[in-house]
Amino acid sequence: MAGNRTFTMLKPDAVTAGNIGAITKMIEEAGFKIVAMKKTRLSSELAGKFYEVHKARPFYGELCSYMSSGAIVPMILEKDNAVEDFRTLIGATDPKKAAPGTIRALFAKSIDANAIHGSDSDANAEIESNFFFSQFERF
Ligand code: RTP
Ligand code: MG
Repeated sequence: MAGNRTFTMLKPDAVTAGNIGAITKMIEEAGFKIVAMKKTRLSSELAGKFYEVHKARPFYGELCSYMSSGAIVPMILEKDNAVEDFRTLIGATDPKKAAPGTIRALFAKSIDANAIHGSDSDANAEIESNFFFSQFERF
């Protein structure tokens, strides 16, 4: 059965452009409850840990330096079928391929500066949530 929580992170381009409010509004209007949320920044070492699954990919170095280039806003979200529904809401990785009306179609600048992250499985949502939040930060 699909889980009811996912993890997301507004990326440096979205935060720098002043889109925290607009994107968070879309997330809430799509029926997701915000369980945990904060503004923080990753070192390149921590970004490397977060994206460790992509270590062998050619874009790994750029991804880690980009994700540590500015503030980010990680969140835990709750909704039925959370992981899949949230991936639909954010759209394809490359904003040129993202469906109209999705968060990436509206706010992403490029495949690297693509505004937002969304977990790709229940297991990764759990791992990624634990990376940023303690049990005492979830309401
Ligand atoms: P995310 O993990 O950030 O939600 O993105 P995603 O699932 O849609 O894409 P994923 O394959 O997990 O890749 C993670 C991030 O790496 C960058 N990327 N660049 N140049 C490239 O071909 C390429 N492919 C991926 C993107 O910023 C992507 O969000
Ligand atoms: Mg991914």
